[in-house]
Amino acid sequence: MSNLDTQHRVLITGASSGIGATYADRLAKRGHDLLLVARDERCLEILAERLRTENGVEVAILKADLTEPGELAAVEARLRSDESIGMLVNNAGVAAAGTLLGADIDKLEVMIQLNVTAVTRLAIAAADSFAARGRGVIINVASVLALAPELFNGSYSGTKAYVLNLSQALNGELQGKGVQVQALLPGATRTEIWERASIDLSKFPPGKVMSVDEMVDAALVGLDQGELVTIPSLPDPADWHALSAARQKLGPNLSRDQAAARYK
Ligand SMILES: NC(=O)c1ccc[n+]([C@@H]2O[C@H](COP(=O)([O-])OP(=O)(O)OC[C@H]3O[C@@H](n4cnc5c(N)ncnc54)[C@H](OP(=O)(O)O)[C@@H]3O)[C@@H](O)[C@H]2O)c1
Repeated sequence: MSNLDTQHRVLITGASSGIGATYADRLAKRGHDLLLVARDERCLEILAERLRTENGVEVAILKADLTEPGELAAVEARLRSDESIGMLVNNAGVAAAGTLLGADIDKLEVMIQLNVTAVTRLAIAAADSFAARGRGVIINVASVLALAPELFNGSYSGTKAYVLNLSQALNGELQGKGVQVQALLPGATRTEIWERASIDLSKFPPGKVMSVDEMVDAALVGLDQGELVTIPSLPDPADWHALSAARQKLGPNLSRDQAAARYK
């Protein structure tokens, strides 16, 4: 079971739309006070007002561009200093479409700053603070593309593989410290991210795209069940465990004092 305590305020990044806004709605309904982070202050204010009125919880907002080091540092400092925060939904992210050949490298770098650098700094700030207090929850929003390097030119999918990797390592370090970690791997989910990345979601087979409500509700069930890795659309979790087992089987042979016979 999740050790999520409704006494604790939740900091949600990327709360102005899509998955982050839906987490805000669901967690407010569960009785959590919230601290909503994103760049679009107006959107955050409208959402915060609705959530206060509907749920009677405290909702604060913090405008920040997480690709700006100074603004990221302010969010990080808040996570380290504000003892009322007991949960982080590390969600803000952007996608990049197109090929690597001819790509706008500056755009890819900004994506990496948001999807990797900001996610890392905030996850570690939360992990340090929560571990010191002996309780807390960290949700890192990755993607099923973490398992699909062939898709999305390897750079967006690579940032999401990084988030999965980071979550698995953090979970190992946090064992016995009262802090729960969940890596969420959504498949295609109907949000603004597609339009922002100039991808036409209507070209996807409808059977491959989940509503954001269904996805976040499933993710929260996975959290309540104490899952480290949640893949909302995966019918049989044994498939994920088989992949993990196959990877671990490689372990003893990944580093040896002799090259394999086929290389001699
Ligand atoms: N939708 C999908 O199919 C899907 C699938 C797998 C994983 N994901 C992941 O889910 C997460 C949320 O995406 P979404 O689908 O909900 O997309 P979205 O609707 O576009 O939401 C992205 C959020 O990130 C915020 N954001 C973007 N750039 C930011 C910046 N520089 N600083 C601070 N906040 C920033 C946006 O707010 P502002 O513009 O107001 O800053 C917005 O609130 C992402 O990490 C994404 O990679 C999405």
